[in-house]
Amino acid sequence: MSLQQDGVQQLPANVSNPSLKTVPVSIWMNGRATAPEQATVSIFDRGYLYGDGVFDTIAAWEGRIIWLEEHIDRFLAGCDRLQIPVPYSRNELIEAVHQTFDRYEGNNGRIRVSASRGIGGTAIYDQIETGPTVVIWVKPLELYPERFYRVGMRLKSFTTERHEAAVKHLSFLVSVACMMDARREGFDDAFFVDTDGNVSEGATFNIFSVYGNQVTTPARKILNGVTRAKVLDLIRQTQHQVNIEDLPLTRLLEADEVFITGSTKKIVPVSEIDGHTIGRGIVGTVTRELTQMFNDQYF
Ligand SMILES: Cc1ncc(COP(=O)(O)O)c(C=O)c1O
Repeated sequence: MSLQQDGVQQLPANVSNPSLKTVPVSIWMNGRATAPEQATVSIFDRGYLYGDGVFDTIAAWEGRIIWLEEHIDRFLAGCDRLQIPVPYSRNELIEAVHQTFDRYEGNNGRIRVSASRGIGGTAIYDQIETGPTVVIWVKPLELYPERFYRVGMRLKSFTTERHEAAVKHLSFLVSVACMMDARREGFDDAFFVDTDGNVSEGATFNIFSVYGNQVTTPARKILNGVTRAKVLDLIRQTQHQVNIEDLPLTRLLEADEVFITGSTKKIVPVSEIDGHTIGRGIVGTVTRELTQMFNDQYF
């Protein structure tokens, strides 16, 4: 892959989608703006060796970075939990994200902030010889297909869980593997159910279900989604009641409506789970109402 100095990344000629041939990218690495060809990580970096690091994904819509403080707080809490000593303050990271986005030649962006433990030997007990590798980049924001929002998604459940689910750590293989298996079987995406039969979260999203005027979302074994928190705030402004509690898969299948939330997705309706139609199989009224409120209040 050849990379240009001006921050436009040239993808190989065999990339078939012409819109992917040039992708704007803006990168900050270990404290400074960095050209793509210089933005490389050692093969001895713990993020590469062991998925030993934390990241967060933030969306920018129409030139506005959405809920940056909340994402940085979750990122720093995750680093703290995994004892990764990020050498930048909250304010320095927020400022660095703004600067990196200002240098990005686009309106909608996927912003990623990550910190790996750094560079050490090769075994997990080896001494780390550097500080953490801290990277911020902005690339175009790829969205779910429009069909998902219009007719709802088809999800598949998997009995598994992300360990340390409250941390958005670099070991994302559970999400990747389930998502790939789900897609191979013709589903749109994957979610997790624990060994007690309770739903936790999606591969890259949180889950809500609706029963009359009750809206339920799982309490445990989840990433505390920033979008989830905003949607919970919205529901509390309506006449619907919020329940944050265990949600057995059997109960999820009986819901009138199911929807998912995520920063790069907003609110997405679900029409089918494991081959069962949810409710009437169309986008439900509560999902529509909350989507409307969400767009009015936040976008
Ligand atoms: C596992 C997982 N759960 C939930 C979410 C949703 O979190 P947020 O709303 O903060 O994007 C994500 C986001 O990527 C995720 O990866």
